[in-house]
Amino acid sequence: MNKITIIGSGNIGLSLAKGLAKKAYCRAEDITLTRRNIKSLSEEAAKGFNVSDDNKLAISDARVIILAVLPQQLKNVLEEIAPAISPEKQMVVSVVSGVTCADVRNKRGNNVQVIRAMPNTAIAIGQSMTCIASDNASDAQFEHVTQLFETVGAVITINEDLMTAATALCACGIAFFLRSIRAASQGGVEIGFHAHDALKMAVQTAKGAADLLLQTQSHPEGEIDKVTSPKGCTIAGLNEMEHNGFSSAFIKGIKLSALKAGGLYND
Ligand SMILES: NC(=O)c1ccc[n+]([C@@H]2O[C@H](COP(=O)([O-])OP(=O)(O)OC[C@H]3O[C@@H](n4cnc5c(N)ncnc54)[C@H](OP(=O)(O)O)[C@@H]3O)[C@@H](O)[C@H]2O)c1
Repeated sequence: MNKITIIGSGNIGLSLAKGLAKKAYCRAEDITLTRRNIKSLSEEAAKGFNVSDDNKLAISDARVIILAVLPQQLKNVLEEIAPAISPEKQMVVSVVSGVTCADVRNKRGNNVQVIRAMPNTAIAIGQSMTCIASDNASDAQFEHVTQLFETVGAVITINEDLMTAATALCACGIAFFLRSIRAASQGGVEIGFHAHDALKMAVQTAKGAADLLLQTQSHPEGEIDKVTSPKGCTIAGLNEMEHNGFSSAFIKGIKLSALKAGGLYND
């Protein structure tokens, strides 16, 4: 039994389901998607996914139950499905920000194995950075979940107390990099390019920068040194950005996101 049920099929739940099917981790028919407004899942139903608005029924033959509702929606969901979870046969993966493994288990009131995972929306194309953590999962379950998320990107195992930090850096982080690409394209328009060309140029340049680091394992500053010639235009632009707080704004934004992520469930 390798069936997966995703409780809460919104942005991240659907991205995960699509990514897993696209990368042939399993068939669409092996994945059940739930949400209350089931009409919004008609496209997915047409693609072969099982869809349901009955969470309890939906988890009945799942090997892995993935919780992907908003933090403020989780308490209701757990109250509903907790009595129906079978800890011997099933495990829970929670991608819900700010909710600990113990929070999930408290509702369940027993020793179900819970792994927290923090992916980002690039999971839909198999390019997520996913951090995973647990306080009670066995090595076998860890391996199972690592394999699942490695199908759709890179995986790092971290301590659970760093999970909110991972949320800020990786899950929120994708928005930070997207905004920086958008900003670069806006600069491109101002210096003479049409918007669609400027965006394409900014996207490919950002992709090249990321791939350069991934493929050569080099340090960003080492690569920057290679493009900043004395009295040159790159260092002039870069320093102007720094004078305006570029690195500082990024760091402050990540710190604030981490702070917010930590309070999403209980505040
Ligand atoms: N978006 C990201 O990039 C990202 C990345 C990592 C982690 N996360 C975490 O993933 C979770 C979901 O985020 P999201 O952005 O995907 O939010 P979202 O788009 O609002 O998705 C939440 C989904 O849950 C469904 N839902 C709510 N109550 C439900 C219930 N009782 N039973 C079944 N489904 C229910 C909602 O649909 P209905 O209203 O139709 O029920 C909705 O489709 C959050 O906890 C977030 O912190 C998000």
